[in-house]
Amino acid sequence: MNPEGWTLFMKQVRDVGIIVSGGTVCFSCISLYEGNEKFYKQFIMPAVQLLNPETAHRIGVALAKYHVFQKPKTPDPPILKTKVWGHEFRNPIGLAAGFDKHGEAVDGILKMGFGFLEVGSITPKPQPGQVKPRVFRLKEDHAIINRYGFNSDGHKVVYQRLVDRIQKDKIKEPGILGVNLGKNKTSLDAADDYVQGVRLFGQLADFLVINISSPNTSGLRDLQAKANLENLISKVVIERNQLKCEKKPPLLIKLSPDLTEQDKVDIAEVVTNEKCLVEGLIISNTTVSRSENLKSEHQTETGGLSGEPIKHLSTLVLRDMYRLTQGKIPIIGVGGISSGKDAYEKIKAGACLVELYTAMAYEGPVVVTKIKRELVELLEADGYTSIADAVGADHKKKT
Ligand SMILES: Cc1cc2nc3c(=O)[nH]c(=O)nc-3n(C[C@H](O)[C@H](O)[C@H](O)COP(=O)(O)O)c2cc1C
Repeated sequence: MNPEGWTLFMKQVRDVGIIVSGGTVCFSCISLYEGNEKFYKQFIMPAVQLLNPETAHRIGVALAKYHVFQKPKTPDPPILKTKVWGHEFRNPIGLAAGFDKHGEAVDGILKMGFGFLEVGSITPKPQPGQVKPRVFRLKEDHAIINRYGFNSDGHKVVYQRLVDRIQKDKIKEPGILGVNLGKNKTSLDAADDYVQGVRLFGQLADFLVINISSPNTSGLRDLQAKANLENLISKVVIERNQLKCEKKPPLLIKLSPDLTEQDKVDIAEVVTNEKCLVEGLIISNTTVSRSENLKSEHQTETGGLSGEPIKHLSTLVLRDMYRLTQGKIPIIGVGGISSGKDAYEKIKAGACLVELYTAMAYEGPVVVTKIKRELVELLEADGYTSIADAVGADHKKKT
């Protein structure tokens, strides 16, 4: 080939290269934005897994914050609508606490198709949490171990962020927002930390969560013991009842999956007692237990285990607590949900709403659309016309 022919050939190769890579980038962006399930599974999530888990988490929050993920194309079908605490949920799938710890990406998350979300856990004063590394992927087990230890921007900063969202950004559809409260590591009066949270966030949250079950703050889980729980709940209930706002938010207690049989009986007794009556339970947080079946090398890391390995354990506690409280207290079921079947199992065991976190870290936001689609199929196959009809169905069968 003469030099001119060679130059022309190279130019054509370059043009084809530009077109192919440009096309690939465009296709990737469109697929990312449109929530193409296959594309996430085959390309996006394997690439995400190459990143350090905490970096991947930070990037996920940033992408949600800047609304990189598109709204699902079709609205949720009526069968998924449900009413709890007077709030109309467009679907029962929420994002669990721990993803948007600092309330940075509320609207981007709601846009992914969740029916609600929890921000937090938030501590009164800002604190850095534990030293890094503090999050581990157990890939073979579809699980995570985390020991973040309540890294938090603190009440003041997060509160302002949530206020700005409504006042400055003038959000038209604010969605349903839960605020999950934690306590500072060095606090000497745990109950007071929660009381402060109720006072501040009670004015803007649709529900408040008293998180006394994270395993990474020393002594926190002791607050689930009967006398401590009575003391704590009576104080937060009084504070909530004194709020000046029009709609006082329901109070929910988030429980550990590592409760003994006696713990469950005691907690049920406390939360159904007139003085300590709470409006909801969240079951469950992460576990400190490690099943023999875990395969990943990270299984010995200290921290709370979430995802697939805690699914049955958390459903068991949920089922027990529904029975012990006679279905009188709405329960949010969380732990290992990654399919419509998982969500349906928790609903039939007694959950009126469900949440997830770990499945999103493995499958991306498309997991929400998948779960909703599968849940609709399962409800319809069993002849249900609403979520509410299926809540606690397992218990009704037995009686
Ligand atoms: C990385 C990570 C951080 C978490 N941080 C919190 C938290 O700050 N507060 C809380 O109540 N739960 C936290 N959780 C627990 C989740 O909200 C949820 O209860 C638990 O992970 C079980 O659900 P999953 O199996 O769908 O992840 C965290 C979970 C993970 C994986």
